[in-house]
Order: sequence, then C-alpha cells, then structure tokens
Amino acid sequence: MWNKLQNLLGITQKKPLYIRALKKQDLAAVMSIERQMYRYPWSEGIFEDCLRVGYSNWALIKDNQLIGYAILSIAVGEAHILNICLAPASKGKGLGQQFLMELIAVVKTKHADSIFLEVRPSNTAAVKLYKKAGFKKIGQRKNYYPAADGKEDAIVLSLDLTINPV
Ligand SMILES: CC(C)(COP(=O)(O)OP(=O)(O)OC[C@H]1O[C@@H](n2cnc3c(N)ncnc32)[C@H](O)[C@@H]1OP(=O)(O)O)[C@@H](O)C(=O)NCCC(=O)NCCS
Repeated sequence: MWNKLQNLLGITQKKPLYIRALKKQDLAAVMSIERQMYRYPWSEGIFEDCLRVGYSNWALIKDNQLIGYAILSIAVGEAHILNICLAPASKGKGLGQQFLMELIAVVKTKHADSIFLEVRPSNTAAVKLYKKAGFKKIGQRKNYYPAADGKEDAIVLSLDLTINPV
C-alpha cells in the first residue's frame, strides 16, 4: 500500500536495481536462494562467519527485494569472489552480468589489482559470465568440488584489473 502510494506520488526513494551491504537480517532470504541454486549449498553458519569476519558481502536489490548476493574477500591487493548467486526467477536476464560489474567496481575502489575465483567447468552460465567479463583461466584444481558421481575439478579464473579497465 505504502509502496503503491509512493509510486503514485513519484516519491520512490530507491533505485529499481542496486547493491548494498549484506546484513544478518538478509540471511533467511539468502539461505532460501542458496538452497535452491546449489546442489551443495553453504550453511547459514558460513554466511554468519562471512559477516562476522567482515568480508565484502553484498546484496543485489530489485524492486525492494533481495534477488542476489555475493561474498568477496579483499586483502593485500587481491580480491576473491567466494560466492555469487541470483534467485532462480532472476537468472538468465543479464542481472548476473550487471551484478558482477558492480562488484568489480567495488573491488577497484579497494585498490585491488586482480580478482580470483573458482568455478565448476559444468557451470556453463557462470563460466560464460566470467569469460565475458574478461576473466582468464590460470589453473585447474583436481577433484575440488563434491559431485553426484564423486568429485569435480575447479577451474581457477583471474581478472587482471591493471589491464582490464572494465
Ligand atoms: C552464475 C549466475 C550468477 C549468472 O547470472 P545470470 O544472471 O544467470 O547470467 P546473465 O543473464 O547475466 O548471463 C551472463 C552470460 O551467461 C549466459 N548464460 C546465462 N545462463 C546460461 C545458461 N543456463 N547456459 C548457458 N549460458 C548462459 C548468458 O547468455 C550471458 O552470455 P551472453 O551475454 O553472451 O548471452 C547465475 O546463473 C547464478 O546465480 N547461478 C547459480 C549460482 C552459481 O552457480 N554461481 C556461480 C558460482 S562460481
């Protein structure tokens, strides 16, 4: 009701799509998405630890709803994307790409020179997303992830921000 009234009066304060710091109050929404999107989801305790230790934790908000989140560690000139995930209904609409660009902008403000991450080779959408943003393969970790038929390797990707003015 209040949102409708604000829209009618043209006094909506928030942008339709934006990122903000992830909060403990977001964890129920985060866990609901995490469990739907991963066969091997993180536990709530892992997210609580990420908030406690002060990682770079972000929520993607659209129409006042949390539709995605990302966890990064940024230290001594390097950033690591530990998790990036969108709600099922928000997948495949270009929002992952927009979110990643916002995260890269955040990393740049922290004066990091490179971003690293691991991804399953079978995760076509994620691999495509990262390659499109300029990430390059720098290695492969054998049997890194649990998988239905044993283990799956991880591809290690890196984005050099000194040569990628994204
Ligand atoms: C990975 C993820 C963040 C990508 O976000 P997204 O919003 O779905 O991706 P986008 O719509 O921005 O698309 C990015 C690129 O991937 C492609 N893509 C998206 N979904 C795809 C799919 N299912 N298969 C193949 N390509 C796909 C898009 O076509 C686009 O490339 P293009 O512009 O050349 O067409 C999202 O799918 C997700 O949350 N997945 C589950 C969690 C996860 O796997 N996280 C990554 C862990 S490393």
